[in-house]
Amino acid sequence: MSVFPASAENIYKLATVISIGKPVAFPTETVYGLGVDARNDEAVAKIFEIKCRPQFNPLIVHVRDLAQAETLGIFSPIAKSLALMHWPGALTLVVPRRSNNASHNEVSLLASAGLPSLALRVPAHPVAQELLTAAQCPLAAPSANKSGQLSPTQASHVAKDFPNLPILDGGACAKGLESTIIGCLQEEPVLLRRGSLDPSELEKTLGFKLNFLPEDDSQTAQLAPGRLVRHYAPQAGLRLNAVTVEQDEGLLAFGKDVPPCENLCLNLSSSGNLIEAAANLFTHLHELDTKTPRIAVMPIPNEGLGAAINDRLERAAASK
Ligand code: TXA
Ligand code: MG
Repeated sequence: MSVFPASAENIYKLATVISIGKPVAFPTETVYGLGVDARNDEAVAKIFEIKCRPQFNPLIVHVRDLAQAETLGIFSPIAKSLALMHWPGALTLVVPRRSNNASHNEVSLLASAGLPSLALRVPAHPVAQELLTAAQCPLAAPSANKSGQLSPTQASHVAKDFPNLPILDGGACAKGLESTIIGCLQEEPVLLRRGSLDPSELEKTLGFKLNFLPEDDSQTAQLAPGRLVRHYAPQAGLRLNAVTVEQDEGLLAFGKDVPPCENLCLNLSSSGNLIEAAANLFTHLHELDTKTPRIAVMPIPNEGLGAAINDRLERAAASK
């Protein structure tokens, strides 16, 4: 039995599950989310694994209030006015991260797929609010469904996809459609995803019409080349499936049989654990990127999370 009625006692109990790095499904007013401590790289990696996501799409980070959001992201006056008017609610704001170094108290770089931005949301559902208070950390939470399935709006929908996960039952979601996402990275905010908050409500706050810049890569590239950085692209050139390391290269290693390297060598997982490798991917890439002009990358098995790791490495290599 994995469905727990959302009593104060159960909320507290499941907050302790989050504190040991495990996922918990919880209701929001839009859809159910699958939440982990957003600061914990390995916990975030597990989310991608259990959702069977073939790619590291950035996740929405849920916080209690605007004050907590401002410790993680930088709010322009426009972003702040949207937050003041529409939080708590079905609005997600993409804002610049406060820092790119995923140190102890910061959001995992994996949660934002290595991007220098963060998607932040303050949910209105009282159970989500109570869980955020009890857990005392920001929660990275995608919708609580397997990749490619419908978003869950009842605890029983979540249980169908994830029978073994703890689920807080807060009843049916009032809105039943994901949050509306607004990008606040440039001077002018843009609509990135339509959702349950009607953009005309936001336009009333803003006093002007929003441009729709879909998050989908190909369309974005056509509509506004270079305006929206969807994927983290390192400056350094990447050479994939490397078995030896050249003189000017740093090494992104995997497993225990590491070739000799004269420069910086960072191992994704010396024991060959793909969850650990995913957890380290963006932090190691960022560090190698700042310290070496070229990065050799050892082969990574294309199974489980390895497929998502390889997808991201291939995009990074192709971006040069
Ligand atoms: O209603 C919702 O938004 C639900 C509940 C659980 O909060 N969550 C949700 O999460 O729909 P998910 O992971 O299914 O969708 C997250 C979306 C992705 O499509 C991603 O592209 C976008 O948010 N996103 C996240 N971080 C971003 C970033 N830094 N830049 C641009 N887009 C971002
Ligand atoms: Mg989803």
